[in-house]
Amino acid sequence: MCYVTVAKVEDIPPGKSQLIQVEGLPLLLVNDRGQFYALQGLCGHQKLPLAKATVWQGLLDCPWHHFQYDIRTGENVYPRCVYPLATLPHLDQQLEPLRTYPVRIVEQHVQVKIQFFELL
Ligand code: FES
Repeated sequence: MCYVTVAKVEDIPPGKSQLIQVEGLPLLLVNDRGQFYALQGLCGHQKLPLAKATVWQGLLDCPWHHFQYDIRTGENVYPRCVYPLATLPHLDQQLEPLRTYPVRIVEQHVQVKIQFFELL
């Protein structure tokens, strides 16, 4: 497991996200009010890229069908909190949380902690 430099802080302004690839691994970098987060770069719904996802008060909104995720935990917020799974059982597998990755800032660079096997 190691930290990999993936971007400059100035590349991702507050309220923005950026989809990147690290050795083929899609990651979404998010700057929420100056705090950086890294999540898996594909939405849990249909595994489409989260490029151009919007960020608002701790929530990430997928641009495709507007599933929403807590950027701190990756947990699905919408539609999980709106539709009971008992009424829409086919949604269960699409509501998996997004994987999250530790982030640190070193000398104005964003670094993400990635396990080596994820890059193989
Ligand atoms: S692919 Fe993200 S909501 Fe459908």
